[in-house]
Amino acid sequence: TKGPILVTGGAGYIGSHTVKHLLAQGEQLVVLDNLSMGHAEAVPEGVTLVEGELMDAVLVDWLFTEYKPEAVLHFAASAFVGESVDEPLKYYKNNVVAPLTLLDAMKKHGTLRIVFSSTCATYGNPQFVPMDESHPQVPVNPYGASKLMLERVIQDCEVAWGVKSVFLRYFNASGCDFEGMIGEDHEPESHLIPRILMALRGEIESMTIFGTDYPTADGTCIRDYIHVNDLASAHALALNYLRGGGESTAVNLGTGRGFSVKEIIATAESVTGLKVPVTFGPRRAGDPPELVANPAKAKSVLGWEAQIKDPRQHVESAWKWMTGPKGGRYSK
Ligand code: UFG
Repeated sequence: TKGPILVTGGAGYIGSHTVKHLLAQGEQLVVLDNLSMGHAEAVPEGVTLVEGELMDAVLVDWLFTEYKPEAVLHFAASAFVGESVDEPLKYYKNNVVAPLTLLDAMKKHGTLRIVFSSTCATYGNPQFVPMDESHPQVPVNPYGASKLMLERVIQDCEVAWGVKSVFLRYFNASGCDFEGMIGEDHEPESHLIPRILMALRGEIESMTIFGTDYPTADGTCIRDYIHVNDLASAHALALNYLRGGGESTAVNLGTGRGFSVKEIIATAESVTGLKVPVTFGPRRAGDPPELVANPAKAKSVLGWEAQIKDPRQHVESAWKWMTGPKGGRYSK
C-alpha cells in the first residue's frame, strides 16, 4: 500500500492543484502550510492540513512520527523574483534555511524521497533557447539563487544519507483548475495572466506591459506558460518514478513553446471578448527576453508531456476561476 505523502506548501497555488490531482489518484496526503500565501479552503476534504512553520523542528519531527510519510513534495517557498531582490534574507530563510528542518526530519525518520519545486530561474539569463537541463545554472536574482542552493543541499544529502530527489524546474506556471473551484489567489498579484484579467474586469485601471523594446518579434518578453494541472500530473509521475527506484534527476517542466506578452493579451481579449486597458512601462528588473523550455527530458525520464499547450486554455481556466462562485478569491 502507498504510504502517506507530506506536501509542504500544499495550500498554495501549485501545491493545492497537485493535492487535488493526487487525491483523485487515491493518495493519502498530509499538508503542512503556514497559510502565509496558501489558503485552508484550497485544501480538499480528505486531506489533513497542519498549519505551522517548516522551520518549527518540533512540529516537523512530530509530523514524521505521526504520519510516517514515505515521500515529501516540497512546494513551500517564497516565489516572487522582484521581492527577492528587495528582501533577499526572506528568500534565503524560507527557501534554504527552513527546508533544512525538513531534511533533518527526513534523515532521522528514513524518508528518502523528495520531489522539489525548482525553477527555470536557477538558469539565469538564457545562453540558448529552448533551454535544456544542461544549461548553466547562473541565477540572476536571490529567488533563483535560493532554489539552486537547495538543489545543492539535497544533492549533498544524497551522497551522505541516500535521499533520492526529482527537481522539477518549472517555467511559467499559469491557468487554474478547469472546475473553477480552486485557483490562483496571490496578494499582491504580480503574474501576467491574472493581471490581464484583473484589468479586463476593471479591478485595476490598466495592466502595464513591462518593456516593448526587447529583441523579440513584437518587442515584448517571451515565456513558456505551463498549465498548473500539467505541473500537478508531473508531480504524480515524479513521485511514482522515485517509488519505482528511479535515480535522482532534474527535469524542466514547460511546453516547449513561447508566447509574448502581447500575444497573451490578444489571447485574453479573444477569449473574453473584452478589451484590455494597457499602458506601456519600462522593462522590469531581472526579466530575461525569452525563457522557453526544452521539455524532452521530462518525457524520456518521467513520461510527462504538457497536455494543455494552447494559452487560450490557460486564460479560459483562469477566467473561469475569477468569474466563478469564489470570484477568484478564497474567503481568507
Ligand atoms: N508582465 C508584464 N506586466 C505585468 C506582469 C508581467 O508585462 O503586469 C510580463 C513580465 O515582464 C514577463 C511576463 O509578463 O515578461 C511574465 O511575468 P510573470 O510575472 O507572470 O512571470 P515571471 O516570468 O516573472 O516569473 C515566473 C514565476 C517565477 C519564476 C520565473 C522564472 O513567477 O516564480 O517565472 O523566470 F521564477
